Amino acid sequence: MLSIVVCVSGGGTNLQAIIDGTKSGAIKNTKISGVISNNAGAYALKRAEAAKVPAFCISPASFETRGEFNRAFLDKLKELQPDLIVLAGFLVILPPEMIETYRNRIINIHPSLIPSFCGTGYYGLKVHEAALARGVKVTGATVHYVDEGTDTGEIIMQKAVEVKEGDTPQILQRRVMEEAEWVILPAAINKIACSM
Ligand code: GRF
Repeated sequence: MLSIVVCVSGGGTNLQAIIDGTKSGAIKNTKISGVISNNAGAYALKRAEAAKVPAFCISPASFETRGEFNRAFLDKLKELQPDLIVLAGFLVILPPEMIETYRNRIINIHPSLIPSFCGTGYYGLKVHEAALARGVKVTGATVHYVDEGTDTGEIIMQKAVEVKEGDTPQILQRRVMEEAEWVILPAAINKIACSM
């Protein structure tokens, strides 16, 4: 059984796709051992509670220093003992020690076809704004391992999505989520679980 911890900051639609995937059998041999949010108001925490998954909020605002926050976050991960950490819209710079400790055991979903529209500053709607500004006709999403760089780790899975006439960043973001993110994030976890 692959034990995963999902780290979130916002709405948690990718977390929902993972929860649904474990229930439907699309993700086999996998248990969500916990969900960690840096943001107490994240709707993702409610999704976790509704699915009866242990949910925790560890917010930098509750600590005097970044070092103390990092310690608390790493302690929680250690307690949950994940085989795999899934970053599903987690807007926190990871403690360097975490990348070292969990090398090749942290994956992230990015809403573009890496190496396009990725790296520092490309997050959320900015990714889709940049894709539209460049005029690409195809975009998509990427699941990749996390290393010290920003969106530089080994690519696990990608899926292309068509850009359509009249798309706004919001419309494109939604299509990329529906057609790519919610498909390849569960699929990548299943692939890892099945290779164990
Ligand atoms: C997604 O677009 C994901 O690609 C990015 O952050 C967003 C998270 O959305 N890393 P949600 O919280 O899963 O709804």
